[in-house]
Amino acid sequence: MIIDIALMLFLLFFVSLLVTVFVHMVFLVPYVPSANRVVKKMISAAELKPKETVYDLGCGDGRLLLMAEKQKTRTIGFEIAPLVFLLALVRKIIARSKVQIRFKSLFAANLRKANVIFCYLIPNVMPRLAAKIKRECKKGTRIVSNTFHIPGLKPYRIYAKDAPKGTPTVYVYKI
Ligand SMILES: C[S@@+](CC[C@H](N)C(=O)[O-])C[C@H]1O[C@@H](n2cnc3c(N)ncnc32)[C@H](O)[C@@H]1O
Repeated sequence: MIIDIALMLFLLFFVSLLVTVFVHMVFLVPYVPSANRVVKKMISAAELKPKETVYDLGCGDGRLLLMAEKQKTRTIGFEIAPLVFLLALVRKIIARSKVQIRFKSLFAANLRKANVIFCYLIPNVMPRLAAKIKRECKKGTRIVSNTFHIPGLKPYRIYAKDAPKGTPTVYVYKI
């Protein structure tokens, strides 16, 4: 019985690993978590207010969501790689957090309710994300992007790359 359960868990892990690798090859956005100091910078740049709805598009292990939740926001992450999604779920459970983590493509998310959007993606997907943001986001939505500029939007603040500590550029936009 115990061996059967262990075998099933191993198979589940193995299949999740394969799907995760496949997803990363297809979507070409790897799982590279933002360093904690970058997460802190992104959250302070967003100037979160209690009860605001906050999205992390491609939330990785959920670290940004968990930190944003401390500002009493309604916090939702979208993640498409199964293993990374599971990791985010485990972190959420350990932290006894109320953040929502959805196993869903960020391109299937509805951005209309977002007050603040965080992202750390790659240049190839930014034009498609920019079009979605322009189509769906309401006026006043703030967007904070780690490292990559969102084409067609004008940042109102840029935190430049910080050479000694290696903190990357953070772009802040308002719709
Ligand atoms: C560079 S990591 C950033 C993780 C997290 N936002 C952070 O800053 O620590 C990008 C994440 O986006 C996820 N991702 C890539 N394409 C996605 C898509 N279409 N929908 C949802 N998540 C996606 C990847 O699996 C990966 O975990």
